[in-house]
Amino acid sequence: DGTINVTLIPGDGIGPEISQSVKEIFSAAKAPIKWEEVSVAPTIVDGVSTIPADAIASIKKNTIALKGPLATPIGKGHVSLNLTLRRTFNLYANVRPCRSVEGYKTAYDNVDTVIIRENTEGEYSGIEHEVVDGVVQSIKLITHDASSRVARYAFEYAKANGRPHVTAVHKAPIMKMSDGMFLRACREIAPEYPDIQYDEDLLDRVCLRIVQNPAPYADRVMVMPNLYGDILSDMCAGLIGGLGLTPSGNIGKDASIFEAVHGSAPDIAGKGLANPTALLLSGIMMLRHMNLFEQAAAIEKAALSTIAEGRFITRDLGGKASCDQYTSEILKKLGQ
Ligand code: IPM
Ligand code: MN
Repeated sequence: DGTINVTLIPGDGIGPEISQSVKEIFSAAKAPIKWEEVSVAPTIVDGVSTIPADAIASIKKNTIALKGPLATPIGKGHVSLNLTLRRTFNLYANVRPCRSVEGYKTAYDNVDTVIIRENTEGEYSGIEHEVVDGVVQSIKLITHDASSRVARYAFEYAKANGRPHVTAVHKAPIMKMSDGMFLRACREIAPEYPDIQYDEDLLDRVCLRIVQNPAPYADRVMVMPNLYGDILSDMCAGLIGGLGLTPSGNIGKDASIFEAVHGSAPDIAGKGLANPTALLLSGIMMLRHMNLFEQAAAIEKAALSTIAEGRFITRDLGGKASCDQYTSEILKKLGQ
């Protein structure tokens, strides 16, 4: 019937409420999607935390998933579910656009940058050990393959999205070998994209300059190793109002998972106060990834204009609306 199956992981805390909002909005925009809802709540098998097999199978089969916030269970054997999903599906590029939202005032109204974070290795490789008492090593693992793969993705993303400039962000004067390897991979790929300007900048320098003036970064894609991207993407989110307003997409060869980066907010869960915008924007990224450009644009326009008008915005954005009232306003703009 022309609909596409997509896995939905509603998640914990406010996850179910914001997922419900996204489902209603997608259906109003006639996005041809059939949601397959799964839970990734882990079980401990032989002392190791495991994601339920049906959730894995669903993502494998559908190749696209939208995911709400997950609370990492506390206790022995548990690891971050987010990381487990990224590892399981080898989601090698984490794409985090950050654009000022009209109607939510921060120090700047001209933030428009895209961070592409290597998503499988680096400081997240999870290789740590105690050498002797009082001395530990955490290994930052960098491979040429993973660096090339994410570098290529960054250039392809820049090309597809009309961004004329790719910057590799690094700390190679200190991390001579690992970041040196990352830069080498970027430099090898750059000449294949003669229409895209390529340069390199130091992570600390980018932090300093982008908070002083985000304008020079507004046409760019910034690509970097895992931990740098984790930190810089939160910093950029801070420039536009926080994680409630930023989407994220984990891209792999065989599957992609789009997710809200914010937490599960257990303190407000079930109270109707949650802001579904980050999950909605992640869903819009997902639609574009699926080449459903019309529906993506319609939803984006309806949501962003609702925020810009400011009459039905949630408390975190300084308004009084419930999640339902905000959602209803978007539905109305979509003709429902
Ligand atoms: C993110 C998060 C995760 C990360 C956590 C939840 C493991 O902060 O998606 O940025 O560190 O990558
Ligand atoms: Mn993070």
